[in-house]
Amino acid sequence: PDGLFSFSAPLFCEHLSSMKIPDSLLTQFQSILQKYPLRRSALIPILLTTQEEFGYIPVEMIPDLARFVDIPEIDVHEVITFYSMLRTHPVGKNHIQVCTNISCMLLGGEEIFSHLSEKLGISEGELTEDGRFSLTEVECLGACCNAPAMQVNYKYHEDLTLEKVER
Ligand code: FES
Repeated sequence: PDGLFSFSAPLFCEHLSSMKIPDSLLTQFQSILQKYPLRRSALIPILLTTQEEFGYIPVEMIPDLARFVDIPEIDVHEVITFYSMLRTHPVGKNHIQVCTNISCMLLGGEEIFSHLSEKLGISEGELTEDGRFSLTEVECLGACCNAPAMQVNYKYHEDLTLEKVER
């Protein structure tokens, strides 16, 4: 169906100015490489380290990252767009991810998402003006047995009710 496999960012065709990997990151990357038999195997930890540094992965850095691990740029894009934990845009200090997949949806996940959206005055993928909160709707967080669930940064919150969300 239309839109089912649509991508929000045409990352592959646009000409982007490139951004070099800063020396501080290169040093960390070199030590990550030591743990893997192949350069390409280090891609995910390298992406996570980049994200930790900037809060997101700057798309302008992707050509350099691809060269560093010796793989095509498209492979880096594929990995970033496959894993919801990786992102190419800034998020809030508190990045809220609400699951609205089937188990959570049946137990109020969509209401929780709407409640937060209204309370924070932001929609899916947006950031509050003060940069404190960002909100996104995600597929299964792997916490179905304690649905509905959401994740705030790296912390899981489960068996949610609107009262718990408020707290
Ligand atoms: Fe929400 Fe699995 S459906 S955690």
